[in-house]
Amino acid sequence: MNFITVDSYEALSKKAADIIASQIILKKDCVLGLATGSSPVGTYEILAKMCADGKIDFSCVTSVNLDEYAGLTPDNDQSYRYFMNKNLFSKVNIDIAKTHVPDGCAPDLTKEGERYDALIEELGGIDIQLLGIGLDGHIGFNEPDEFFTAETHSVKLDESTIEANARFFESIDDVPREAITMGMKSIMGAKKVLLIANGKNKKEIVEKAFFGPITPKVPASILQLHKDVTVIFCEN
Ligand code: GLP
Repeated sequence: MNFITVDSYEALSKKAADIIASQIILKKDCVLGLATGSSPVGTYEILAKMCADGKIDFSCVTSVNLDEYAGLTPDNDQSYRYFMNKNLFSKVNIDIAKTHVPDGCAPDLTKEGERYDALIEELGGIDIQLLGIGLDGHIGFNEPDEFFTAETHSVKLDESTIEANARFFESIDDVPREAITMGMKSIMGAKKVLLIANGKNKKEIVEKAFFGPITPKVPASILQLHKDVTVIFCEN
């Protein structure tokens, strides 16, 4: 594992953007696994700037996002599809048809999970997967559990996740209670994993995840088994 500590959110974002940009430069038709939440916003801003400056080209890139809230349509400003369009896809020259987010409004989320896993397989897997980490150690929306789940699946969100994500909604009652998330098979199958964690409140969970036992009670701890994982942590 490559564990990098930086002293500002700007430095974290720059390092993460440089790693993703390198992937795009080395393989222009790469498959990027992308994440939402507040942590990657700075990374996406830098990538958009690099693209506007002609330093990177997204025209052949395909993307697959980790997760989506159940029941939120793409035009809902709290949906992860909306987030991605706003923070990255509308600002770079990616073909929107090549951007994929699980459909949280699919009538059958189990079938949607199967479709999503088949799609990732058809694409040849993920070249680099960007991840944040939840305060309870979740990656994507893989919440602490008795076991790791391999497939893309629907999940009931933990109270702590609902509380943590309430800051993005008008009220906590508006936070969906369910979501669909990529499972560990696609995440761990990515050729490279890049996890970014920002803030003092993430310190304890980052320590548990990367220096504690591998357990489904701390979902991110499974990444200790991945052979190419970079963690960028900023405590400030
Ligand atoms: C959400 C997302 C995760 C993300 C996490 C942390 O729950 N599903 O993919 O990593 O939030 O978010 P933040 O970066 O805002 O702390």
